[in-house]
Amino acid sequence: MSNDDFQTYFHQRARRFSSFYSSESVSRMLGRGPLFDRLRMAVDMAVAAGAKSVLDVGCGSGPLFSTLAEKGIHVTGIDPADNMVALAKTEAAKYPGLVTVQQRSWADIDEVDAYDVAVALGVYDYVSDPADLLGRMGRAAQQVIGTFPSPGARTGLRKMRYGMRGVGVYGYPVDGYDDLAKRAGMKVLEKVPLGKAGFVVRFGRIPA
Ligand SMILES: C[S@@+](CC[C@H](N)C(=O)[O-])C[C@H]1O[C@@H](n2cnc3c(N)ncnc32)[C@H](O)[C@@H]1O
Repeated sequence: MSNDDFQTYFHQRARRFSSFYSSESVSRMLGRGPLFDRLRMAVDMAVAAGAKSVLDVGCGSGPLFSTLAEKGIHVTGIDPADNMVALAKTEAAKYPGLVTVQQRSWADIDEVDAYDVAVALGVYDYVSDPADLLGRMGRAAQQVIGTFPSPGARTGLRKMRYGMRGVGVYGYPVDGYDDLAKRAGMKVLEKVPLGKAGFVVRFGRIPA
């Protein structure tokens, strides 16, 4: 799968995907509760890490912006998909001076120590070289928070559904996080289960 297929998929489904956030109770009934759980976990982890600035990779429509901005945390959201960026910019406009949106891919993250924490929610699911993404996020920020879907039936069904549209979906065995972290020059600091969906994992740099 190319990055283009991944971004095109979300460009075309930006409104539908962002609508999942309009009602938590409806989303929970439809089995999409982990979307809300992962937002809360990421915010709690970023706050516990003392973050004053966050890079939100694959920010989508910006569901993380409000909670972080209301805590006074600066957010830079990046996403390459036109329609997602349009929604994210509308959301960012509610928090002038605190939230910025840039239209670009994770493959262009070349910043070093520009943020306290880098977060990617629902992004590693679609990335064929996760160590590259984790390494970039880990150079941009001291700590990285990401969601990782477990392999298994649920991810298998998603692989089929997304595969029909040319988008690859990747599952991550829980005993593989340490190796992934090592390949990116990082270590696992914390992993919290996200129901059956997978894990939210917090990584830190290995001191040189
Ligand atoms: C499943 S959505 C998650 C959006 C948001 N993080 C959330 O939790 O609602 C995945 C997002 O990754 C974005 N994306 C696709 N290709 C990307 C790339 N190369 N770099 C960064 N983000 C990308 C998509 O446009 C989409 O907004």
